[in-house]
Amino acid sequence: MENLDALTSDALQAIEQAQDIPGLEQLRVQYLGKKGSLTDLLKGLGKLDSSERPQAGASINAAKGKVQDALEARKLTLSAEAAASQQIAEAVDVTLPGRRQSAGGLHPVTRTLQRIESIFTSAGFDVVQGPEIEDDYHNFEALNIPAHHPARAMHDTFYFDSGLLLRTHTSTVQVRVMEKGEAPFRFICPGRVYRCDSDLTHTPMFHQVEGMLVDENATMADLKGLLVEFLQVFFEADLDVRFRPSYFPFTEPSAEMDVQCVSCKGEGCRVCSQTGWLEVGGCGMVHPNVLRSSNVDPEKYTGFAFGMGVDRLAMLRYQINDLRLLFDNDLRFLRQFSEGQGI
Ligand code: FA5
Ligand code: MG
Repeated sequence: MENLDALTSDALQAIEQAQDIPGLEQLRVQYLGKKGSLTDLLKGLGKLDSSERPQAGASINAAKGKVQDALEARKLTLSAEAAASQQIAEAVDVTLPGRRQSAGGLHPVTRTLQRIESIFTSAGFDVVQGPEIEDDYHNFEALNIPAHHPARAMHDTFYFDSGLLLRTHTSTVQVRVMEKGEAPFRFICPGRVYRCDSDLTHTPMFHQVEGMLVDENATMADLKGLLVEFLQVFFEADLDVRFRPSYFPFTEPSAEMDVQCVSCKGEGCRVCSQTGWLEVGGCGMVHPNVLRSSNVDPEKYTGFAFGMGVDRLAMLRYQINDLRLLFDNDLRFLRQFSEGQGI
């Protein structure tokens, strides 16, 4: 009983210094639990003289009450502190900048195709499509390239076991359109073509845009005028264009068209192999045999056709120095084209 006051003030001090709820619980057990020190004192009352007992009992119970109250008060404080610090830890900083959603963009080849289509449709051309898996007839035979013709070696062709093939050029569509319809014709056909080819300026799959005009008085001058106009509008520059005599079995006369190198403006650089010129496609007056095999009368109609490399045009317009970049799907490359909506 001499220790009661000391015991009580130790307890109150320890409670005041408790740092967390588990620590507080330990103190409760230590003082008020079944074997706690204040509980022990109560149990010892029996040893006292009966005259002292009521007084001692009242003092111990008063001490227990104080300890109990202190425990509860400290518990309230500690839980309020814990709640406050949890709130700080979990707080959302609404001033942080949000994560932006990155916008996708059109592939440079798609942009180029759309640009070509919009230029030709504004000149009155239809846009048509043809199959990528073709037969020998439409890829070669009907284009005046018979089985024994040396021009077949010009294309390294991917054949299927069935004898079908992946079209090597979009000229196949000339035949398909003419055999179905009636002259006059005026259309372009953009699409994928395939050849066993791979280097800085050749890929096994690439894109061409075929163009054809068949009418009663179509001339080579019309062809030149159209293509020069197209290339200048396409590149938005007054670039020189030249036509070199060439050979295609399905056109006569035939030419290859070159545009002044867009990188060096004709001075000569790596892109144009120091020539100052870049080949963009082939063209010519449609061979009478081709008209005839598609039931168009070559006595009444003449026509011209051209086929341009779309990926080449994209390379030149966007100053890309390796054609294969267009097909690697490297996002760092593609993101450079995702800005804006223009084509
Ligand atoms: C032809 O394919 C003819 N059909 C074009 C034609 C159409 C002539 C109508 C006359 C009348 P050529 O094989 O040259 O022609 O290919 C045309 C263009 O396709 C080339 O100038 C080049 O720009 C592009 N090209 C050819 N091979 C590849 C390749 N492997 N990768 C990327 N572009 C290519
Ligand atoms: Mg060629």
